[in-house]
Amino acid sequence: MNFVKRLISYLRKADQKKVRKPVSIKSIYSIADSQFMAEAIQLAGRGLYTATPNPCVGCVLVKNEKIVGRGWHVRAGDAHAEVNAIADAGDEAKGATAYISLEPCSFTGKTGACTNALQTAGIVRVVSAMEDPNPKVSGQGNALLRAAGLDVSNGLMAEQAAVLNRGFIKRMQKQLPFVSCKMAMSLDGRSAMASGESQWITAPPARQQVQQLRASSCAIVTGVGTVIHDDPSLNVREQNLGAPVERQPALVIVDSQLKTPLSAKVVSAEMLATRDVYIACVNTAPADRVQSLEARGVKVITFSEDGEDLSAVNLHALLSYLASHEMNHVMIEAGPTLAGQFVQQHLVDELKLFVAPKLMGGNAMPAFSMPFENMSEVMDLTITDTMAVGPDWLLTCHINNSDKNSD
Ligand SMILES: NC(=O)c1ccc[n+]([C@@H]2O[C@H](COP(=O)([O-])OP(=O)(O)OC[C@H]3O[C@@H](n4cnc5c(N)ncnc54)[C@H](OP(=O)(O)O)[C@@H]3O)[C@@H](O)[C@H]2O)c1
Repeated sequence: MNFVKRLISYLRKADQKKVRKPVSIKSIYSIADSQFMAEAIQLAGRGLYTATPNPCVGCVLVKNEKIVGRGWHVRAGDAHAEVNAIADAGDEAKGATAYISLEPCSFTGKTGACTNALQTAGIVRVVSAMEDPNPKVSGQGNALLRAAGLDVSNGLMAEQAAVLNRGFIKRMQKQLPFVSCKMAMSLDGRSAMASGESQWITAPPARQQVQQLRASSCAIVTGVGTVIHDDPSLNVREQNLGAPVERQPALVIVDSQLKTPLSAKVVSAEMLATRDVYIACVNTAPADRVQSLEARGVKVITFSEDGEDLSAVNLHALLSYLASHEMNHVMIEAGPTLAGQFVQQHLVDELKLFVAPKLMGGNAMPAFSMPFENMSEVMDLTITDTMAVGPDWLLTCHINNSDKNSD
């Protein structure tokens, strides 16, 4: 799980940077508190590929400065991190402090409330990294425990804990998923030859990274242009991921007129047996195509606008739909037309640009088709991370003002 290791190292570095910052008020936390919380956040990372639609949560129980129990949330419906840590600690849980990467839940969902489990186990102190953004909790878990007489504090390493749950937080707060857009491109910014040929721009290590990004996404969104040109699978493969594949991300094809060939891999019986496949179209799409795709098990989502016909899929409405179906984090893996539209409409939170040391020339397709004319229209980015991936580079970029349309 190199991706998780890298995330943990990022969290550690971020924490060191934080510790070196001059602080004007005395921290209520000790160095040991930070170390135990860092361990809880690392444990949370183990649920990165499986916990969705729930958040990733880790918990350590500590008594006399020693860890007596560890737990993390593996998948929805299974025990929460706190309950797993209590089971791991056994009798040692009584009198312990719980370090939890997210405020404990205070309601009974698929499993019981963690606030009850913590009290029953005899936990005396609870330190959580951040409040649960879920409106069903949102401070009530901590308030309930405080009222029951436990020593409760919140906010230790909140920034680091939030990194793991960017999708869950955005879905809870804005009813939209966190959107990453991956693009493989040459050093001169090209994403495919004019003929449509694009395999392979980057080397195998970059393609392995893409597998990790897919595995941590709830859905992969692509365009009908890519389906027709490449006939891709856009799934997670064990041999490329380097870990067992427990969950395939859903696949969403943006295809206004349902031109996806019935012979395409993405709508094959094999593919539909392993994942949910959605096709987003508009209300003028041919009804017989809707029928034949639905007969195969494809979920056809039809968009229209106040009785008006749409010529293309409304991408903001599509993202809202995906959030309403509990998708926290989606990754766009499309050609320059659709990727360009997502970016131009300020719907992307993060770009993942895999840049290969190749020049594909001026006849090749751009990375993002955005028909800008003036410098005043260009998109302004901040590069937030750079990383060598074999012979290629991965640039992670934040699009400034990316949340312009996300309210
Ligand atoms: N380098 C990379 O990382 C990478 C990744 C993927 C693909 N590619 C390459 O990209 C090429 C295909 O690019 P492409 O631009 O033709 O395909 P695309 O971006 O995957 O799909 C574009 C199509 O999506 C449909 N669409 C529906 N609603 C839309 C909306 N609101 N905005 C934009 N598009 C919408 C449109 O077709 P309708 O009007 O018919 O609905 C549009 O033509 C292939 O050569 C492939 O190899 C490269």
